[in-house]
Amino acid sequence: MRSIALLSPLLFALAVVSQSCTLKALGSGKDDSPQLLTAMQTCSTVVVPVGTTLNISTRLNMTGLSNKHLNLQGTMRFNPNIPYWSGNGFSFPFQTQITFWILGGTNLVVDGGGTLDGAGQAWYDAFASNSSLLRPITLTLFQATNVVVQNIKMLNSPEWFNLVNEGKNVTYSNITINAASTSSHGASNTDGWDVYRSDQVVIKDSVINNGDDCVSFKVHSTNILVSNLNCTGSHGISVGSLGQFAGMFDIVENVTAVNIHMSNAQNGARIKAWAGSGVGSGIVNNITFSNFIESKVDNPVVIDQCYMTSAADCAAFPSNTFIQNVFFTSISGTGTSSTVASLACSPGARCSNITVNNLTLTPSSGTAKYTCQNVVLKGTSAALFGTCATT
Ligand SMILES: *[C@@H]1O[C@H](CO)[C@@H](O)[C@H](O)[C@H]1NC(C)=O
Ligand SMILES: *[C@@H]1O[C@H](CO)[C@@H](O)[C@H](O)[C@H]1NC(C)=O
Ligand SMILES: *[C@@H]1O[C@H](CO)[C@@H](O)[C@H](O)[C@H]1NC(C)=O
Ligand SMILES: *[C@@H]1O[C@H](CO)[C@@H](O)[C@H](O)[C@H]1NC(C)=O
Ligand SMILES: *[C@@H]1O[C@H](CO)[C@@H](O)[C@H](O)[C@H]1NC(C)=O
Ligand SMILES: *[C@@H]1O[C@H](CO)[C@@H](O)[C@H](O)[C@H]1NC(C)=O
Ligand SMILES: *[C@@H]1O[C@H](CO)[C@@H](O)[C@H](O)[C@H]1NC(C)=O
Ligand SMILES: *[C@@H]1O[C@H](CO)[C@@H](O)[C@H](O)[C@H]1NC(C)=O
Ligand SMILES: *[C@@H]1O[C@H](CO)[C@@H](O)[C@H](O)[C@H]1NC(C)=O
Ligand SMILES: *[C@@H]1O[C@H](CO)[C@@H](O)[C@H](O)[C@H]1NC(C)=O
Repeated sequence: MRSIALLSPLLFALAVVSQSCTLKALGSGKDDSPQLLTAMQTCSTVVVPVGTTLNISTRLNMTGLSNKHLNLQGTMRFNPNIPYWSGNGFSFPFQTQITFWILGGTNLVVDGGGTLDGAGQAWYDAFASNSSLLRPITLTLFQATNVVVQNIKMLNSPEWFNLVNEGKNVTYSNITINAASTSSHGASNTDGWDVYRSDQVVIKDSVINNGDDCVSFKVHSTNILVSNLNCTGSHGISVGSLGQFAGMFDIVENVTAVNIHMSNAQNGARIKAWAGSGVGSGIVNNITFSNFIESKVDNPVVIDQCYMTSAADCAAFPSNTFIQNVFFTSISGTGTSSTVASLACSPGARCSNITVNNLTLTPSSGTAKYTCQNVVLKGTSAALFGTCATT
């Protein structure tokens, strides 16, 4: 008897934590954030049914969770109350970002076919008249381990769509991202993903239509696979910018980006690192960009190791972010100018083992120019570049 009496509260607790909860929108202009937060704390599965739109009007702190499944079939719409969010979004010192939502812990799944609607139009318009406006990132995975986000649509984020901040073993799959302004004010800074101080991240099988980097790897990003993405209108797949801040050592290592369609974009495959006085340092090692099909891309293949630095300053203060073991393999398609590839390293052997294979890029007109500086290229396409300039 005694053991049953002891067990039953435990069984009751297990029953409570393993239950599935289905949410209804409160309606009548009410905020659904509190009920969503409570459900995520108390239920193992939270269902937002098809046809339900939750009105998210206060910030969502969902950190430290374990074994949770958010089955989002309907929509979470982030109410565009600009004064509220710009003052109350969770802030990150890195690049002075704020976010609507931090999700963290272990063994988390977000899926269901539903939509995260950032209601960005009001933000795009407000940013046009206030360039210091803090705009929220839609979803930030913060200290998240063993996480899957899949089968979700993300619409009109005010700022970056996704930040992976101190994540480990995180997979995004079948995500449809769309940022489209209906006014003359663009959907600025709407990066698809930024990976920051994270390890073992996979981003795959997704379609992105946005106004900044499709995917960007920052500060400390290791063991990353990006595959089967369709990026339109973006600034490309970007390693960096790195080595910007004095006293900081950045590492981006073991990144593969494969099977990428890149259309109407500023860049295709890009690595950028700062040079000049008073900047930081770092290492970019073992990066592969392969099977890119590009269409109307301004800079289809780029290394810029004098990023934001004049030629004179770059010569006097070469980058301390070393770039090594980089492969650009099977990159085809069209540029928008005559230069289709530019591999510009700092002086002083700061780039090594840069390999170019099977590059077949077509310029807007005339003969394709492949340019390089301060680097010895390897691979079957090295001859396209001729002798690299030295500065
Ligand atoms: C969402 O909630 C806020 C705060 O209660 C309210 O001001 C706003 O009108 C609501 N939005 C919708 C679409 O119901
Ligand atoms: C989020 O909630 C956790 C647990 O309640 C708390 O420890 C943490 O400080 C909160 N995070 C932020 C950024 O407010
Ligand atoms: C512009 O945005 C900043 C940061 O969010 C805010 O502090 C400031 O009040 C805004 N300025 C105006 C004129 O709204
Ligand atoms: C990574 O996370 C997935 C689930 O999200 C899990 O199945 C897998 O075992 C994890 N891998 C490692 C190495 O922990
Ligand atoms: C991808 O996600 C969409 C919902 O956004 C869903 O309808 C579709 O079935 C998913 N595709 C796969 C292969 O799971
Ligand atoms: C991906 O891009 C290619 C080329 O731009 C296009 O043919 C294809 O239909 C796109 N796929 C999806 C799912 O958007
Ligand atoms: C990069 O991958 C190699 C080979 O798997 C591994 O030994 C190394 O530790 C990885 N680097 C980082 C920073 O994880
Ligand atoms: C390079 O990184 C890839 C993952 O992107 C990894 O599979 C491979 O082992 C790494 N190579 C070395 C030499 O570390
Ligand atoms: C070279 O790239 C093209 C695509 O541009 C691809 O079809 C072909 O298989 C690649 N060849 C090799 C040897 O990898
Ligand atoms: C360059 O590649 C060679 C051969 O793969 C390797 O032995 C060497 O360590 C690499 N250099 C750097 C700086 O990684």
